[in-house]
Amino acid sequence: MTDTPVLDVRDLRVVLHTDSGDLAAVDTVSFTVAAGRTLALVGESGAGKSMTSLALMRLVGKGPRGQGVTLGGQVWLDTGPGHLGRVELLAASLADMQALRGRALAMVFQEPMTSLNPVFRVGWQIAEAIVRHEGLGWSAAERRALEMLQLVGIPDPQARMRAYPHELSGGMRQRAMIAMALACRPRLLIADEPTTALDVTVQAQVLALMRRLQRELGTALLFVTHDLGVVAQMADEVAVMYAGRIVEQAGVQELFHAPRHPYTAGLLRSMPSVVGRPDGSMVEPVRGSMPLLARLPAGCAFHPRCDHAQAGRCTQSMPALAEAAPGHAVRCARAGEIEVAQ
Ligand SMILES: Nc1ncnc2c1ncn2[C@@H]1O[C@H](COP(=O)(O)OP(=O)(O)O)[C@@H](O)[C@H]1O
Ligand SMILES: [Mg+2]
Repeated sequence: MTDTPVLDVRDLRVVLHTDSGDLAAVDTVSFTVAAGRTLALVGESGAGKSMTSLALMRLVGKGPRGQGVTLGGQVWLDTGPGHLGRVELLAASLADMQALRGRALAMVFQEPMTSLNPVFRVGWQIAEAIVRHEGLGWSAAERRALEMLQLVGIPDPQARMRAYPHELSGGMRQRAMIAMALACRPRLLIADEPTTALDVTVQAQVLALMRRLQRELGTALLFVTHDLGVVAQMADEVAVMYAGRIVEQAGVQELFHAPRHPYTAGLLRSMPSVVGRPDGSMVEPVRGSMPLLARLPAGCAFHPRCDHAQAGRCTQSMPALAEAAPGHAVRCARAGEIEVAQ
């Protein structure tokens, strides 16, 4: 493993130009992911996780009524030997982005049909991506596609090569999408809620599969989820997002055992299965809900839902993301003085 991270995101901003004005769906988000490591991006629905993922792929489109989007900051991707070297994705040409997508960085979504084309056979789609990105001949690409279907544990892969996506079960389609995403051995895989639509047993199998492939291929993984149970299984590092910003970032053990932001502690309290509840305390959801971007409260965006909020310090200015312990950053004006209960 080298010292250079595969992905180095610096002050990423995604600003939506809407009828209600300019809204920062992602605001000064920074993190790195090294080869073979997993960063989980976690937070409730509307936190800005998908906007972050799509921005890294340069796939943030226009809004529903054609409103524009502006991306800011820097996204450095180490594309590895034989590719373009170290590339700043937000400044890359669209042609370079197209060459990099699928090859140096790839993405899997909650809904596999976002990636799989319904009118082509599964094996053909994977082989086609390999031909396009790696310049292999067709029969070599087909052999690689078959290997990938084997690798992701699809039974009878020879037959499944010839299946159309709708002929596969949800779990098998998800595996096929992962096979396609990993077929060109990307340096970075972005997975946005890849197992949220699956039932628990299949979810566990697909997560185990992703971990195994990541280890074998040394992929850097950005794993997006709202589910802390999944974070516990997958992540090395965790970044908790709230209203477009990172509010807490730490190693997975530290975050679970010594959370410092009241939002993180609230998410942990709302997860029954994560760390066990030896004291018999009840599972409780975080009260209130994620604010709309157009109606973000002044000060700390979380303060209306926070049991520790104080008028003035918490309601007037946004606290900075500050290091609370080595490798552990928190965005809370009261981080040094409160004990958050888990
Ligand atoms: N076209 C749009 N106009 C206004 N707000 C939008 C638009 N698209 C997304 N948003 C808002 O951006 C925020 C982040 O959304 P998203 O990244 O999808 O969240 P997550 O993936 O964490 O659930 C949400 O508040 C969402 O409502
Ligand atoms: Mg999302």
